[in-house]
Amino acid sequence: MYEFKITDNEFNSFREFIYDYAGISLSDEKKTLVTSRLSKRLRHYSLKTFKEYFDLMISSPPSGERQVVVDLLTTNETYFFREPKHFAFLEKEILAKWKGGKTFRVWSAASSTGEEAYSIAMLVDDMLENRPWEIFGSDISSRVLKKAQQAHYLQNRIDGIPIAFLRKYCLQGMGEHEGTLLIDKALRQKVSFAPVNLKQPPKNLGPFDVIFLRNVLIYFDMETKRQIIKQIVEKMHPDGYLFIGHSESLKGIHDGLETVIPTVYRKI
Ligand SMILES: C[S@@+](CC[C@H](N)C(=O)[O-])C[C@H]1O[C@@H](n2cnc3c(N)ncnc32)[C@H](O)[C@@H]1O
Repeated sequence: MYEFKITDNEFNSFREFIYDYAGISLSDEKKTLVTSRLSKRLRHYSLKTFKEYFDLMISSPPSGERQVVVDLLTTNETYFFREPKHFAFLEKEILAKWKGGKTFRVWSAASSTGEEAYSIAMLVDDMLENRPWEIFGSDISSRVLKKAQQAHYLQNRIDGIPIAFLRKYCLQGMGEHEGTLLIDKALRQKVSFAPVNLKQPPKNLGPFDVIFLRNVLIYFDMETKRQIIKQIVEKMHPDGYLFIGHSESLKGIHDGLETVIPTVYRKI
């Protein structure tokens, strides 16, 4: 198969596009990744150079080829009950102490294919029983949101789900669906998904009692992180909690937040 080569200028064009649009900073080392992920689109359109593809993309409507490039250049790895300490904290320090009286609202702000939002949903439903709650999941990639809405997963991706939750909230696929799992309808009905670009979140979103913003800050530079965190804090309830990924840091940019434990913050 023909191997495409990307020039420095072509790479810089895609790098600037994804930075301006999504805030994602691509280092020089990502040249191979960009080449391999976008090559299939050159083949799809029978194009010879990345410049031709860039021109085609930039003249497309936002929901067209631009969205395809965003889908291809984002990294969407996720799994159920990722970083279990966060779920232990949510259970013991937040849900066990929840007084009720209003709807408990959570935002999974870079939800990818939905595993994070459904993990939270299982725990919240189990702990709050009949008290009202809702979860909102969002991402910049429309491809992953489609998958999140389907709530249909391969069995080999469900390792982190506790057995009791598997029994209570998951339907095992039979026949042609053998080897898959569907999140129970009652749970799905309380979890909604929609596209949100963290660089420009809608003004009317929130407020939330808990926001999960995990494993996405690593793609942003300091200035972008600062802008995003400022807007995230505005969408939190007073006393609300923010969770970030274990390999991420808010060093120097957590105005309006106090550290509760490493990677968990509370609005002050
Ligand atoms: C590695 S996944 C993290 C998924 C999940 N939060 C977790 O921790 O398992 C990062 C997600 O961030 C999304 N993302 C990247 N830039 C974004 C932006 N500007 N706005 C919203 N989502 C973004 C990507 O599409 C991707 O699905």
